[in-house]
Amino acid sequence: MKRIPLGATGLQVPAIAVGCMRISGMPEDKLDQHLLYCMEQGLNFFDHADIYGGGQCEEVFAAAVKRTGLRREDMFLQSKCGIRPGMYDFSREHILSAVDGILKRLDTEYLDMLVLHRPDALMEPEEVAQAFDTLESSGKVRYFGVSNHRPSQIALLKKCVRQAISVDQLQFSLPQSCMVSSGLEVNMETPGAIDRDGGVLDYCRLHDITVQAWSPFQYGFFQGPFVGNRETYPELNRVLDELSEIYNATPTAIAAAWIFRHPANIQLVAGTTSKDRMAQIIQGSEIQLERSEWYRLYLAAGHILP
Ligand SMILES: NC(=O)c1ccc[n+]([C@@H]2O[C@H](COP(=O)([O-])OP(=O)(O)OC[C@H]3O[C@@H](n4cnc5c(N)ncnc54)[C@H](OP(=O)(O)O)[C@@H]3O)[C@@H](O)[C@H]2O)c1
Repeated sequence: MKRIPLGATGLQVPAIAVGCMRISGMPEDKLDQHLLYCMEQGLNFFDHADIYGGGQCEEVFAAAVKRTGLRREDMFLQSKCGIRPGMYDFSREHILSAVDGILKRLDTEYLDMLVLHRPDALMEPEEVAQAFDTLESSGKVRYFGVSNHRPSQIALLKKCVRQAISVDQLQFSLPQSCMVSSGLEVNMETPGAIDRDGGVLDYCRLHDITVQAWSPFQYGFFQGPFVGNRETYPELNRVLDELSEIYNATPTAIAAAWIFRHPANIQLVAGTTSKDRMAQIIQGSEIQLERSEWYRLYLAAGHILP
């Protein structure tokens, strides 16, 4: 299992994080098998959010940990807060109460990583700093990160926050790779040149922030998987099929390998609830694509090289 450095924490973690957004509907025995399989494979990094399944994902996860006898201390538990119905909320009070809710639902005394889910327009960095200090000194949270943030928003936080920002979780997949395109089409009039994220990929590399790729097999905003969707992505699936023959792997493994091949040491957040598919993603972490293959896939996904 490929391991990567986690920001500047000095920790090495699996290159695959187990996404827990879709686990609330799983039958108990299937969820137990899923967790046991992931842990056996060395996938001990779990990604939650207080809103997943309206809080149920964290609860069913904790119940499964109890049933299976897995040990909390063998796991790296990450969760997110800051999204509330109809608004985003990074106020000190909300962050502190959200973490208490997360700890209760996950049935744990501490979170390994707390992530601010989506930028709050009304964010006051001083308040976030106070919340992080309280959470750190009480031992409730070990490390901190953000999600869907651009560099200037991270810089604004860092003006007051003492703790390192260790991760930025962003949507990233073969079709959804504008953070690569804008860096390749600098100063052009092409659609890919539009800077949607303030150069977040370079910023994270420069500042030792781990990029976590969410929805790595989806296109659009939860429009469905692109792997196997030959109607919307015929050329991409043709190249995925061709490379899967070369590497004796599945198209899912190749799509995962495309993310792992990027030198930013991106952590792929896998949302699958299927053991078979997780095995394919693990296989993808062991494939080192050629530079030419990486670019072929990129072009096949509909992007351009000027
Ligand atoms: N920070 C954020 O704003 C944010 C937003 C969304 C998600 N996330 C995190 O990212 C994780 C992953 O997101 P996601 O679930 O949308 O990502 P994903 O891994 O791209 O999608 C997984 C879903 O696609 C299905 N699928 C169908 N074909 C697939 C294939 N060939 N390969 C892989 N999956 C296929 C899976 O079904 P099966 O279960 O049958 O395999 C599952 O329902 C979430 O669990 C959550 O932790 C974060």
